[in-house]
Amino acid sequence: MLIPRPAELDPGEGAFTITPTTPISADPPLERAARWLRSTLAPALGGPPPAEGDGPAVRFRHAPDLAEEAYRLTVTPGGVLAEASAHPGAFYAAQSLVQLLPPAVYRSAGAPLALRLPAVTVADAPRFGWRGTLIDVARHFLPKREVLRYLDLMALHKINVLHLHLTDDQGWRIEIKRYPALTETGGWRKGSTVGSSRHGRHEDRPHGGFYTQDDIREIVAYAAERAITVVPEIDLPGHTQAAIAAYPELGNSDAPVEVRTAWGPGEHVLNAEESTLAFFRNVFDEVLELFDSRYVCIGGDECVKTEWRSDARVQQRMRERGLADEDALQSWFVRHFDEYLTARGRALLGWDEILDGGLAEGATVMSWRGTGGAVAAARAGHDVIACPLTDVYFDYRQSDDPDEPIPVGCVIGLADAYAFEPVPEGLSLSETGHVLGGQAQLWTEPVDGPRALDYLAFPRLAAFAEAVWTRGPRDYAEFEPRLVHHLARLDALGVEYRPLAGPHPWQRRPDALGWPRSRAEMLDDVLGGPEPTPGD
Ligand code: ACM
Repeated sequence: MLIPRPAELDPGEGAFTITPTTPISADPPLERAARWLRSTLAPALGGPPPAEGDGPAVRFRHAPDLAEEAYRLTVTPGGVLAEASAHPGAFYAAQSLVQLLPPAVYRSAGAPLALRLPAVTVADAPRFGWRGTLIDVARHFLPKREVLRYLDLMALHKINVLHLHLTDDQGWRIEIKRYPALTETGGWRKGSTVGSSRHGRHEDRPHGGFYTQDDIREIVAYAAERAITVVPEIDLPGHTQAAIAAYPELGNSDAPVEVRTAWGPGEHVLNAEESTLAFFRNVFDEVLELFDSRYVCIGGDECVKTEWRSDARVQQRMRERGLADEDALQSWFVRHFDEYLTARGRALLGWDEILDGGLAEGATVMSWRGTGGAVAAARAGHDVIACPLTDVYFDYRQSDDPDEPIPVGCVIGLADAYAFEPVPEGLSLSETGHVLGGQAQLWTEPVDGPRALDYLAFPRLAAFAEAVWTRGPRDYAEFEPRLVHHLARLDALGVEYRPLAGPHPWQRRPDALGWPRSRAEMLDDVLGGPEPTPGD
């Protein structure tokens, strides 16, 4: 009943019961996983079990032969042995162990529970090293406590990358000490579009919030305990209206610019001055202090180039630098930050528009506009992460039911999420090696808080987790009974997922109209036109 399904699982004879006195001990490199397990089982045991002691035990043993994320878990009537070479594998062994217990183990308090583990041998390792999920905290802010809760839910599914989309036209969500107006001014907006921007509905309710640098440190450390890397995204040169509202000298407009209240990419984008590059280098200097991820995302998507085409000063800067067109100017930004990040031992990550105008040397591509970007980047020898909008944009509607809340995009049902294949067709074996994995996106125009996030993320994220973890054929009919069991875990955790039969009445949003589209229309939209169109 494990999700994601492990590589090998052999049932044994009998069972082992963890009691309040069962020691949960670990060799030193694996101590963090044992600590997590002791605290996770504490509510069911009436207190944390001991770290040392005699008698039958749960033991984490260092096994240097295993890959970093691999583990072996052996439950016999005499005890439990979890083997791993490093924290990630040990942590996944602990996660699998908890999944072998009754779902009520996920409750935070309550009657003591018999922690009976069926005898079993599990040998497991992931298919992909990048099993990511993006949360857009710019369109709607997600309070820090909810980010921590979401990290726990990611960990339950062995998802190991949280991509935080921290800045956009509609808000700047990370404290930058050198530039306080980024959050003082850029951290909130006067109102928001309600539903799809097609319908022109608007609410004059201020929206905002941001993470202090201490919040970010806490998020990154909490994630690391759960074998999760947090990848920051500071989007440029487009999606920068909130920054320009705070520091107008970054932009091209003589008129004042406000933090954008409508959805869709704004036309106010960065100017092409050296001082603007210096500003963002200073921003990244602080960001790199806070995040230890090798990859740092600079966005690069959906840059509306209207201002660049009409602004004499931008055109002058392009001529001075020998940049033939606006795509080349976009590449100039990306190359600059590629060099900046590479010089600091980091790697640039960007959306697949960074392919337009020539790809920077060290760049890794997030392929979202279908699979073409993944194929082109892998063929050019670049690493890619598959995140095609028609497969893993989990803000999109989950069925054709008109009662789906704010039904935007194409249908991505649970079975569709389960069928997601990160490696696009047509790649050779060596090109396939450039596909680091996949990532599910939760853009938050239709997500005004944690309840709406739960509805869109779960249980699709469970299906996605298996698509990026488990090797070999996947059969939805085999998955579904395991998922039904898994829903009891989500219930115990209080996750407000979408029921398999459709939304609860209170999960509907008749006040906020969507814009249902087909897969073909979604692809046409992002690939068809020369300019991005306002999205939803
Ligand atoms: C994106 O969806 N604009 C990457």
